Amino acid sequence: MLDLLVQNATLPDGRKNMSVAVQDGLIVEISPALAADAHQLIDAQGQLLSPPFVDAHFHMDATLSYGLPRVNQSGTLLEGIALWGELKPLLTQEALIERALAYCDWAVAKGLLAIRSHVDVCDPRLLAVEALLEVKRRVAPYIDLQLVAFPQDGVLRGAQGPEQHMNNLKRALDKGVDVVGGIPHFERTMADGALSVRLLCELAAERGLRVDMHCDESDDPLSRHVETLAFETQRLGLHGRVTGSHLTSMHSMDNYYVSKLLPLMAEAQLQVVANPLINITLQGRHDTYPKRRGMTRVPELLAAGVNVAFGHDCVMDPWYSLGSGDMLDVAHMGLHVAQMTSQSAMRQCFDAVTVNPARILGLQGYGLEVGCDASFVLLQARDPVEAIRLRANRLKVWKKGALVAETAPIVPKLHLPGRPNAQA
Ligand code: FE2
Repeated sequence: MLDLLVQNATLPDGRKNMSVAVQDGLIVEISPALAADAHQLIDAQGQLLSPPFVDAHFHMDATLSYGLPRVNQSGTLLEGIALWGELKPLLTQEALIERALAYCDWAVAKGLLAIRSHVDVCDPRLLAVEALLEVKRRVAPYIDLQLVAFPQDGVLRGAQGPEQHMNNLKRALDKGVDVVGGIPHFERTMADGALSVRLLCELAAERGLRVDMHCDESDDPLSRHVETLAFETQRLGLHGRVTGSHLTSMHSMDNYYVSKLLPLMAEAQLQVVANPLINITLQGRHDTYPKRRGMTRVPELLAAGVNVAFGHDCVMDPWYSLGSGDMLDVAHMGLHVAQMTSQSAMRQCFDAVTVNPARILGLQGYGLEVGCDASFVLLQARDPVEAIRLRANRLKVWKKGALVAETAPIVPKLHLPGRPNAQA
């Protein structure tokens, strides 16, 4: 007897009336209208069964700290970084763990079962690193949490000096942090930014690790660290293992230069994370009108063969006052900002919060295929486009065959005069 059989599901690729059979936490069969005995038998009623949502860019050490110790008045990235600097000495490991776990609960309820979180490694105590490693252990049964060693204050610019900052970062990796981070646009000069990219990519190559840098998170069209990132990726043979996060300066770059840059990025198999909720609020703050949107060139990157994901980046922290762990909300904003309104582009936006970020994280066993983990989400929507439109309710969420969250179907009841049978 099967452990779980989901029948009459629609899959993201459009196949309808599909059954997904699960045994020992794995998908053992996917076929039309399969009938078999199962301990858990679910009639999906034609609704969309999707692989779990994946967030390739988040800051779990800062999440749910909104208002501590004060609110960002200018709404800029730089005031956010300053504000985080004020909060850091006040952080305790217990409070940090508690907030991160609370966020993970929200995430699971929204079918978000894999998260890559940056963790600030500039504090020599590595307090946030210790806290998030503990969170990673605790949530492992239901969330794959991947951590990036992120030198928020700049590995060369930081107050403790380059040697100490590099040392903090290496110690974080020694403790089990998975990925090498960076922030070249925040270093003091373009030359220092480029040097930081080189040093950090060399460190990743030495240790056989992936790289994910905050890169060119700026409206400055001449912020071109992504070029160096692509170059170092090529030079060190890190193809497919390096991600450029944000890349907002690409929005403002000269079109001729971008026409040269895109093939270089594709050649290096660089991967990209745009963070639409954050990019649309933080960028263009120095503009009067017209105001730039600031998000990187998502459709053009996809057309050039570059893998692009949408990340959440922030939820209720010094940089962003909203958010709920809902990757459909992220996809919805990304779709609007990038004007990805064709049917195929809207489906690409769904991929940008599911399969594309799964590739960036290098997740094993991810997907709706025989042999993959039985981790999936039943949505109250008929297809990926409707899921984005409605930011659809997550009816049921499974992790490796175990039901980890469910939400009752949303069925509005109307009481309209003269329309007794009206339905929403
Ligand atoms: Fe970020």
